[in-house]
Amino acid sequence: MRNINNFAKNIIMTFDTLKPKIKEIVNTSKTRDEKLLAICQVLNQEIPYYNWVGFYFANHENKTLHLGPYVGAETDHTVIPFGKGICGQVAESNENFVVPDVKSQDNYIACSLTVKSEIVVPLFVNGINIGQIDIDSHEIDPFTEADERFLEFVNQEIASLF
Ligand code: SME
Repeated sequence: MRNINNFAKNIIMTFDTLKPKIKEIVNTSKTRDEKLLAICQVLNQEIPYYNWVGFYFANHENKTLHLGPYVGAETDHTVIPFGKGICGQVAESNENFVVPDVKSQDNYIACSLTVKSEIVVPLFVNGINIGQIDIDSHEIDPFTEADERFLEFVNQEIASLF
């Protein structure tokens, strides 16, 4: 069994090391989508339980989310109506949604049987929820408040691109 305390310490150190990398990516001369993809790649590579990392962006007129850059298994869920699944609920609640075990959620859109847990953190630009970062994990209950704070940081940096 994993030594939880050491694991927690190490992952917080990893988040601290990644923060300047995220800023660096945001400040490169790439296009916005290239930067978002580079952020997905770095998170997927550096955080062992971030197995699918992607962005959805909101169309507020027809109340749908649209898949943006991502890394991980291909997904059929390129358009998600507000209210549907974990992502669709975050589009309406404007709050982080941490799902320790996807099996315990009724309103959940399954992408793959290997996914056990999920975290979705909204992306605010000038106070408007314009989309979200979505992370799927193959582990049960891996996400802590440290993940929430880190992903909020990532989204704040990304907000400057809009
Ligand atoms: N599981 C999500 C759907 C998107 S995939 O995770 C890529 C949901 O329930 O909203």
